[in-house]
Amino acid sequence: MTDLSNKHLVLGLSGGIACYKAAEFCRALVKQGATVQVVMTEAAAQFITPVTMQALSNRTVFVSQWDAREPNNMAHINLSREADAIIVAPASADFMAKLLHGRADDLLSLMCLARPLDTVPLVLAPAMNREMWAHPATQRNMAQLRADGAHVLGVGQGEQACGETGDGRMLEPEELLQEVVALFQPKVLQGKQVLISAGPTFEAIDPVRGITNLSSGKMGFALARAAHEAGAQVTLVAGPVALPTPNGVQRTDVRSALQMHAAVMAHAPRADLFIATAAVADWRPAQAATEKIKKDGSGHMPTVVWQENPDILAELAASPRAQSGALFCVGFAAESQDLQAQAQAKRLRKGVPLMVGNIGPATFGADENALLLIDPQGSTEWPRASKLSLARQLVADIARRLT
Ligand code: C5P
Repeated sequence: MTDLSNKHLVLGLSGGIACYKAAEFCRALVKQGATVQVVMTEAAAQFITPVTMQALSNRTVFVSQWDAREPNNMAHINLSREADAIIVAPASADFMAKLLHGRADDLLSLMCLARPLDTVPLVLAPAMNREMWAHPATQRNMAQLRADGAHVLGVGQGEQACGETGDGRMLEPEELLQEVVALFQPKVLQGKQVLISAGPTFEAIDPVRGITNLSSGKMGFALARAAHEAGAQVTLVAGPVALPTPNGVQRTDVRSALQMHAAVMAHAPRADLFIATAAVADWRPAQAATEKIKKDGSGHMPTVVWQENPDILAELAASPRAQSGALFCVGFAAESQDLQAQAQAKRLRKGVPLMVGNIGPATFGADENALLLIDPQGSTEWPRASKLSLARQLVADIARRLT
């Protein structure tokens, strides 16, 4: 099973240079198991040919409402009735203005208007020049389209085809794909604020050295993505890792345990759930040297005085909000052996209702993991699977504990 197995999607293209990205997006949807029916406006066909989209989607493309291929000549009804979702990427400023008024003078707008509102979600991926994006008319139109039930996605920032720089680029194909996959995930954390710590910390010894650990941050990032897919507002406090931010997740980068502590504490008062996946260094040099420490010829390593770092999870779990049940805290235990006993002891020591155990050397850097859930009732083993699928399972499990 892939993320979009058994899903039938209508991919609409309106006119804009971002049509070139729609080709790759179409391919990504097909790769994730979806069947894709492409519908283009005449303006879109000026930017990219229907032949390209036909080859990528493996289906002939619809452009005109007068297309005689459909026996009843009602392509707008037939296409919208069989879809699990309609995604318009790119959605031009003009196309959104048209949708807003319920106008229907071409096949794509006709189909959007004719879609069953309750069962076929409409996703719009805006793409336009930064001035067009910032214009009050566009912003007003998007607010009204949202109120009318459309999922209007955000835009990227950067260089534009017109040579200007700013907001308004269509999201990248991978970001669009994440949004579409999220659309079909159960919204078990809708409206919840989720705070996640992830990755290692780095404790400086001098300006060029420090201690850290092998955590890649992948499990925490997968959980951030899964929590966002489940409808939560997600804040991810990340130590030094080389991972892209999951779409829709608010990320704060930190380096040391003290910085991670400060960032987590700053966000904690609004959180309903804290998942501590970070591998926080237990100790830091009491004082980092201001200059690089040199060999002194004695053959001995210079002595470093170590100071214990604050335990972020234990501190939050003991806070009044956690104790009253307003904040649910989940810990991760990365062990090298005796997982069950170690994780059980750690759950009690940290004072959390749920501790998730995994074998450190088997998970660090890997895309797969196996988990052991420990709560006051006992333990449950989850066999090896991708970190994303375990993260989705864990989010669903935690959501049940929250209600
Ligand atoms: O004590 P240990 O590091 O094994 O505990 C693991 C759990 O505690 C993880 O959830 C980790 O994120 C959290 N932790 C923390 N602050 C620390 C040490 C660990 O939040 N200083």
